Amino acid sequence: MAQDKRPADRDTLRIDPDATGIARAAALLRAGKLVAFPTETVYGLGADARQGEAVAGIYEAKGRPSFNPLIAHVPDLAAADRIGVFDATARQLAEHFWPGPLTLVVPLRPDAGISALATAGLNSIALRVPSHPVARELLALAQTPIVAPSANRSGRVSPTEAEHVWSDLSGRIDAVVEGWSTPVGVESTIVSCLGPRPVLLRPGGVTRAEIEEVLGERLADGAGDAAKPIAPGLLESHYAPRAKVRLNAQSIAPGEAALLFGPDNPAGLEDAKAQLNLSFRGDLREAAANLFAMLRRLDLVGAATIAVAPIPAEGLGEAIRDRLQRAAAPRS
Ligand code: TXA
Ligand code: MG
Repeated sequence: MAQDKRPADRDTLRIDPDATGIARAAALLRAGKLVAFPTETVYGLGADARQGEAVAGIYEAKGRPSFNPLIAHVPDLAAADRIGVFDATARQLAEHFWPGPLTLVVPLRPDAGISALATAGLNSIALRVPSHPVARELLALAQTPIVAPSANRSGRVSPTEAEHVWSDLSGRIDAVVEGWSTPVGVESTIVSCLGPRPVLLRPGGVTRAEIEEVLGERLADGAGDAAKPIAPGLLESHYAPRAKVRLNAQSIAPGEAALLFGPDNPAGLEDAKAQLNLSFRGDLREAAANLFAMLRRLDLVGAATIAVAPIPAEGLGEAIRDRLQRAAAPRS
């Protein structure tokens, strides 16, 4: 199975954006594969939002050193309603701007089946209904929410042509749906609808003025520099466990909760309050897929400290370690 190969060992298919091609792309996504496709903003690198290991594959293919929450793409507002909770403001914006280059951050329905890695462990989710005909048909056929960051290697510019995707990601993903441009060319505007007032988190394809006109009120600005995407690790709402997090634990102290990696058991494990293993077989993609959900589960057992076994620094391990370091950082 291609997913088990090293990131640069995949045979990447070029798929035509006709009915047969799009059906094939949808089938690949449902099978847990990584498929780049055009949207009206930029090309996205898609994976099934419900399959944690597929989502982990996105970070691996992009070479992203940290886990950002991703945007889930759905075919219509009805599908979005099954995943997130839309208050009056969010609904008004969705009805006016969807399909189109607006992403709405709303509370996540816990039973929506979205992988915790897709939201980076947050209780909220970013949702978007793209207007690009290829994206729309693909989402309709996939019948599952598709998370998709821009389809570029980390640190490179967002791709607006299939060739950009190809030069960045061929050999690292399973397919590229080719043949259409991305008319907007900049990413979607992101508006958070979590609090009493909507907040502009990222400017993009829909202008502030257009949104304010529909709402009849001013948009608040996100924390930090509103001209840049917010680093999710800086988001106040970002999930951090209640327990303290102790990294590189070679042994477990009595009463600690243990988050393990690989087949070896650290000393003292028998007196742990609880234990979970990110991946018994030491697979970093499986570990990434399990990370946020397991942190959450261990936090629920009420131990004062979660002791985390050493995680190798290679591949996805870098992103896992980054997120764990944030979880372990002193809090206010
Ligand atoms: O136009 C676009 O939005 C493109 C196309 C492919 O749809 N996608 C895109 O995704 O730009 P990405 O991963 O590059 O940007 C996602 C942004 C990040 O800034 C992330 O922090 C934010 O969305 N985000 C996602 N979920 C969030 C959440 N629950 N709360 C706050 N921000 C969130
Ligand atoms: Mg991007």
